[in-house]
Formats: sequence, structure tokens, C-alpha cells
Amino acid sequence: MPHSLPSAATDAARRPIGIFDSGIGGLTVARAVARALPHERLVYFGDTAHLPYGDKSQAAIQAYAVKICDLLLRQHCKLILIACHSASAAAYELVREYVGSKAQVVNVIDPIVQLVGAEYAGRPVGLIGTKQTVNSNVYKKKIDELDRGVDLHSLATPLLASMVEEGFYDNSISADIIASYLDNPALSGIEALLLACTHYPLIQPQIEAYYQGRAPGRVAVLDPSNVVAATVRDYLHTHELAAPAANGAAPAHHFYVSDFTRSFEESTRLFFGQAVQLEHYPLWE
Ligand code: DGL
Repeated sequence: MPHSLPSAATDAARRPIGIFDSGIGGLTVARAVARALPHERLVYFGDTAHLPYGDKSQAAIQAYAVKICDLLLRQHCKLILIACHSASAAAYELVREYVGSKAQVVNVIDPIVQLVGAEYAGRPVGLIGTKQTVNSNVYKKKIDELDRGVDLHSLATPLLASMVEEGFYDNSISADIIASYLDNPALSGIEALLLACTHYPLIQPQIEAYYQGRAPGRVAVLDPSNVVAATVRDYLHTHELAAPAANGAAPAHHFYVSDFTRSFEESTRLFFGQAVQLEHYPLWE
């Protein structure tokens, strides 16, 4: 039987998904994408040389993001997912314009905003994230644009990301820090809490335990990573860009960081659920 040549659509579908973050925290989002789309090859870039983005200016994050996109486009990514909430808040519009038609750009904010608009119309919802994410007001603007009457209460919780990176995510110290943030009157009366930072899925059980202890069943804790993974899956399927199964072989992901340390590599298990090998890609030398 004659073999047909691969179609242009199939070639495009074989291109990888690019994912970037300020560091390795975005591996929580990469993990959700890998679970939702097990045949997709991922090219991950963690800008560990500039970590944390949560304290950086919008201009700095935009400059980093553009350079990272150059790398992901050189790797022929069909879709670029901005896994970092701080970068999604600071640089999404610019990145989308910069990338143009070369790849689809998805941020981690819009999908969860849609979900909140659909499920929490007319209700009070809390949000915790870095200073950059909260001060940018991007979540509030996008939620207000939906005009669904969601009343968003945001609180910057800058200690939480470094706390998780230091390994404090399931002990009494992390429980105390989480409680002291969540006790803040800014979050009183909320019916859902949006985890607007890559690191927070790791402390989701402790956050849920906090609310279970105070108002059982009243506050839902929302992790945007699964929601954005579902958005990516829907986009690829709708546009016939989903990678074909590779005869049972696992896709060969690549995980790059702009500054390599052993401790980053050791933490990959924490965020990705399994240890991965980090490759040093010095974008800024
Ligand atoms: N990845 C960042 C975010 O989701 C958290 C870490 C940082 O501040 O760089 O906002």
C-alpha cells in the first residue's frame, strides 16, 4: 500500500508546546499540561537568572519575556504558554503582538477568569498572588470586563512562593504563615479563593485545611493550572494541532533554565511530580 506523505497539518502538530516561567514553579503548570496532553512534547524555559518576577517591574518582565519567546520560536513551538502569573499579568499583550502568527500564545489568567465569571457571578471571590500580579490589577480588570458582578478581593502574599521553594509547604510553619495571610480582612466573606501563582498548588491542601477549619464547605480553592491545561487541549484539538501518539514512546521534553543550580534541579520533583533534568541555557550571556 503506498504511504501518504505527512500533511502540513501533521507537521505542525508535531511541533512542541513552549512553556515559560520565572523559574521552576511553572512546572506545576507543565505537569498539568503533560497530564492533559500526554503525547505533546514540551519545551520548558525557567528564567532562574531573574527569579523572582513577582518583585520586578513590568518593563523588566516584558524584556525577559520577549527574549524567551525568541528561544521558544527557534525551537518551533506551535503554542507558547505563559505559565507565570506575574509574566501573564505584565507581558501577555506584548508577547502576543511580538509572536504574531508564528505561534498561538496562551496566558494562565484568561481561562480561570472565564471559569470564575461563569461559576461565581454576583459572588465575592478572593485572589492571592505576588505583588506584581496583584498590583497590576489585571485579574480585576479582566473579571470586571466580564460584567458578571464578581466581587474580587485581592491580596499580595509575597512570602508564600519563597516559603514553598525553601521546602515549607506541608508543616506547621507554612500553616501559620498561610493562616496569617488568609486571616487578612481583605479576604473575609469570600466564597472561592483563586491561587494566582505557580507555586500555590503545592500549598492547596493546607489552604483547604485552613478553610475547612473555619468555614467548612464555604470556600472553594481554585487552581488555574488544570483549567489552562484544558484550554490548551481544546485549542489544539479544535485546530487539528494535537500531536499524534508516538507508538507508546514518551515524548522527549526539554527543560531549560537560564541559571543552573543543583538545588533548582532537586526541586523539580516537588513541582513536576517527578525529577527532571535541567539544561542550562544562558540566554543572557
Ligand atoms: N512564577 C511566579 C508567579 O506565578 C512566582 C515566582 C516569582 O515571583 O517569580 O507569579
